[in-house]
Amino acid sequence: MTSPLYITSDRNLALELIRVTEAAALAAAYWIGRGEKNAADGAAVEAMRKAFDTVAINGTVVIGEGEMDEAPMLYIGEKVGCGGAAMDIAVDPLEGTSIAAKGAPNALAVVALAGRGCLLHAPDVYMDKIAVGPGLPEGVVGLDRSVRENLESLAASKRCAVDELMVCVLERERHAEIIEACRSAGARITLIGEGDVAGVIAVAQPESGIDLYLGSGGAPEGVLAAAAMRCFGGQMQGRLLFEDQAQIARAASMGITDPQRIYTISDMAKGDVMFAATGITSGQMLRGVHLAGQRAVTHSIVTRSKSGTARYVEAHHRRKPG
Ligand code: FBP
Repeated sequence: MTSPLYITSDRNLALELIRVTEAAALAAAYWIGRGEKNAADGAAVEAMRKAFDTVAINGTVVIGEGEMDEAPMLYIGEKVGCGGAAMDIAVDPLEGTSIAAKGAPNALAVVALAGRGCLLHAPDVYMDKIAVGPGLPEGVVGLDRSVRENLESLAASKRCAVDELMVCVLERERHAEIIEACRSAGARITLIGEGDVAGVIAVAQPESGIDLYLGSGGAPEGVLAAAAMRCFGGQMQGRLLFEDQAQIARAASMGITDPQRIYTISDMAKGDVMFAATGITSGQMLRGVHLAGQRAVTHSIVTRSKSGTARYVEAHHRRKPG
C-alpha cells in the first residue's frame, strides 16, 4: 500500500520541479533575442543545475547536455539532488536555443522525472516521431504506415474529413516528402521553426488545434515529449534514425540492440512520470518570462502521470539586484 507520506512527498516533488524549470527560464530570459544561443543555453544550464541541489531526490541525468567530457553540467550520468528516492532525470534547460536567440515563440525550460531505469537512455541522434492526442483508439496512427494512411485513419476516428485535420511539422528540408504527402492528402499544416517538444505536446491540447505531429527531431527531445505525453494522455511513437554504423554501435553500448525498433510512450517513459516546463518565450502552451522592473513573472506547467492533473503556475519573482 502506498503510504500517505509517499503521496505527499511525491506531490511536493512535482511542485519542486517547477522551481527547477523556473530557474532555467529566468536565467535564459536575459538572453532572449540577443543572437547568442550558447550564452542563453549556458545560463539556463547553470541555473537549472544549481536549482537541483535543493530537490529531495537521488537523481541521475539520463537525458542531458551531452557526455561527461563534452558538458560541464547536467551531463549524462551526473548525480543531482540532495538525497531521496533514486530517479532518472531528463532535462532540456533551453529547448529551442535558436528560438531564444531570435526571440521567436516556443522556447521552454523542460524537465521530466521518473523512477530509476524508467526513462529511455536515448543517444543524441534523430528520432522519427508521430503523436496524437487522447481519446483515440489505440494504434490509430503509426510509424509503420504512410502519411496518407495515418491521416485517413485519424480522420475516420475523429469523424471528420482529412482536409479538416491540422498536422504540425518542423520546417526542414528533410520533411519535404511528409509536407507534400500531407498536402496532397488534403490536410492542413502548421510549420514550426524549432521546438518539437512543444510541437508534440500540442496534440494533447485541444485549444492548439493540432491533430497530428509528424517528422523527425532530436531523440532526447523525443523522450522528454514522451514523458509529457504519458502525463497528458495521447499516443506517440518514436524510431531512432541512425546515420552510420558508428551511431548504431554507440547505441548498442547504451543497450539499444534493435536499431529499427518503434518505441511507444511506455517504452520511452514508464512508471510514475512527472513533467514540468516553464515558458522562456511565449508559445501556445505557456507565456514566456516577463521582466517587469523589480519583478519577473513566469508561467509553468507541472503534471504527473499518476493523477493526470496538470497545474499551471504563474509565479511573481523578486529580481536580484545587479
Ligand atoms: P535545441 O534546443 O537543441 O536547439 O533543439 C531545438 C530543436 O528544434 C528540437 O526541438 C528538435 O528536436 C531539434 O532541434 C531538431 O533538430 P534540427 O534543428 O537539427 O532539425
